[in-house]
Amino acid sequence: MMKSSSEITRRDFLTIAGILAAGSVTPAMGQITPTTISGRPGNDEYFFPAGFIYMNTGTIGPCRRKTVEETTDTWKQLESLPLQFYATKFAPALAEKTRMMAASFLGCDISEIMITKSTTDGMNAVAQGLRLQPGDRIITTNQEHDGGLNGWNYMAKYYGVRIDSVNIPFDTHDPSLLLENISKAITPQTKLISISHVFSSTGLRLPVAEISKLARSKDILCIVDGAQAVGTIKVNLKELGCHAYATSGHKWLMGPKGTGLLYISKEVQNRIRPIQFEDSHNTFNESTGVGNLPGILGLATAIDYLHETGIGKVEQQNLSLRNRLYHSLLKETGLDIQSPPPGSMASPLLSCRLPENIDGGKFSSLFLETHKISFRPVHKKWFNGVRFSLHVFNTEEEVDKLVQIIKKELSSRSD
Ligand SMILES: Cc1ncc(COP(=O)(O)O)c(C=O)c1O
Repeated sequence: MMKSSSEITRRDFLTIAGILAAGSVTPAMGQITPTTISGRPGNDEYFFPAGFIYMNTGTIGPCRRKTVEETTDTWKQLESLPLQFYATKFAPALAEKTRMMAASFLGCDISEIMITKSTTDGMNAVAQGLRLQPGDRIITTNQEHDGGLNGWNYMAKYYGVRIDSVNIPFDTHDPSLLLENISKAITPQTKLISISHVFSSTGLRLPVAEISKLARSKDILCIVDGAQAVGTIKVNLKELGCHAYATSGHKWLMGPKGTGLLYISKEVQNRIRPIQFEDSHNTFNESTGVGNLPGILGLATAIDYLHETGIGKVEQQNLSLRNRLYHSLLKETGLDIQSPPPGSMASPLLSCRLPENIDGGKFSSLFLETHKISFRPVHKKWFNGVRFSLHVFNTEEEVDKLVQIIKKELSSRSD
């Protein structure tokens, strides 16, 4: 029988309050001074080497200096008396701070949030926890990341579940068309729709609230891979209305690597029961075993920064940089941008195709090695191109520099 999370939470809270009052561990919550989020070159809030331009947060984000310091401080305290730290009520209670922060950031109840290692880990947990039957069908799309697909592929391979992949062309940006295509794929055997919130391929935002509504009207589940959304655009889980949502701590949230969050809506907690949360949804429970407490607490620090700064402000700034890049690439390079034009479907990820004679992987390596600019190739299964992620530490100057170098590199190849 699962323990009542809210009961545990209240009790844990009192314990946390006691710990913090005793000054044993530096609390992250409420201590972040809101800073201006205009990035600047040589910004010492981060560890980037001077002159380096990082546009790869969608792959893996940087931790801020403060996040690293608080994580390592906790780690040092923990290592001074490991058993005492973990084996007493201290660690389990303290760890709930991260769930509390995440729930507040994402607009849901703490009992609906679980700590995972990654988006993949969360999506796998949902797939495993659903106990699907042979012949059950799942709707997904051709633009899902493997992290969101692994669990369903496993179910198809070993449990006879069938996957219906809706084909969405990369340059289709019309939300009603997306919805229509997904709707057409629903059959009487369909048990769920599994989609990204933001496509890893092009940064397109999916109309998740509408897709959830559609799913609910057909009495099926809506499961969301939010790896490319949380930390860079405002995410309110109740407004989205989905049943489950997985994300990473180590991308846009800028938390420690190997951290993630999983939301399972209260109403389906009896239907989605991953092994690791069978005992309870608490960070420390009999079904998960010992976790990485310093990293988990570091994630609370990272979330706190974005929460205090204001996710609306972060989103606005990131989109403004992204739109600058969009217009500038079009004007200066004529590259074939696959991401949506500025507007409601755009997110701070931007991808473009490269001419066939220029390989996305080699182009990205060249920029890293020669120009100290980090971005990534688009996954080969989608198209030959490159993807840029723009987050709070990036600047307009960086965007302009990137475009000028791209222009130069492209023109040297067309000679
Ligand atoms: C949409 C999407 N889902 C899942 C993942 C995997 O994330 P993680 O490494 O945290 O499992 C990624 C990573 O880029 C992604 O873009």
